[in-house]
Amino acid sequence: MLRALSSAVTLSILLVGQVFAADAATTEAQLKRGRLLFTQCQACHQVKPGAPSLLGPNLAGIMGRKAASAPGFKYSSALAKSGLTWNVATLDKWLARPSTLVPGNTMAFAGLPKAEDRAAVIAWLAAETAPKKK
Ligand code: HEC
Repeated sequence: MLRALSSAVTLSILLVGQVFAADAATTEAQLKRGRLLFTQCQACHQVKPGAPSLLGPNLAGIMGRKAASAPGFKYSSALAKSGLTWNVATLDKWLARPSTLVPGNTMAFAGLPKAEDRAAVIAWLAAETAPKKK
């Protein structure tokens, strides 16, 4: 009985270990994929705080930021009036097809049709643009 119990405990410890390992691997792979996918955005967007806006606004600190709030960038009135706040859910919709979420916006990008691609870019963006602790 005791033996069965202890092997059950050992087994569940092993299983938990594997789940964590799998999670870490997914995240690592996802971040890499997100970094790679962001090359499509890079022509228009910088992510370092204080870097100038290009064709598109700087995306530093994008998570939790109100749409159309990068200082000095001339947004479309469509995005300015959207009332959106950027989070995983709104970014997912935006990146699927910007023109569906905000008709009349000026981001010349068709969208990322694959949910896993959007998840990867968003995960990378969230990690990369989070305000750094000093
Ligand atoms: C051809 C240039 C271009 C490309 C490529 C592009 N964007 Fe944009 N992006 C823009 C422009 C321009 C805006 C502002 C749109 C407006 O004002 O209507 C914008 C706005 C945004 C916003 C909202 C920012 C804010 O301050 O509210 C996010 C988030 C964003 N882009 C993410 C991305 C991501 C992620 C990609 C790549 C998958 C991408 N963009 C590709 C030009 C681009």
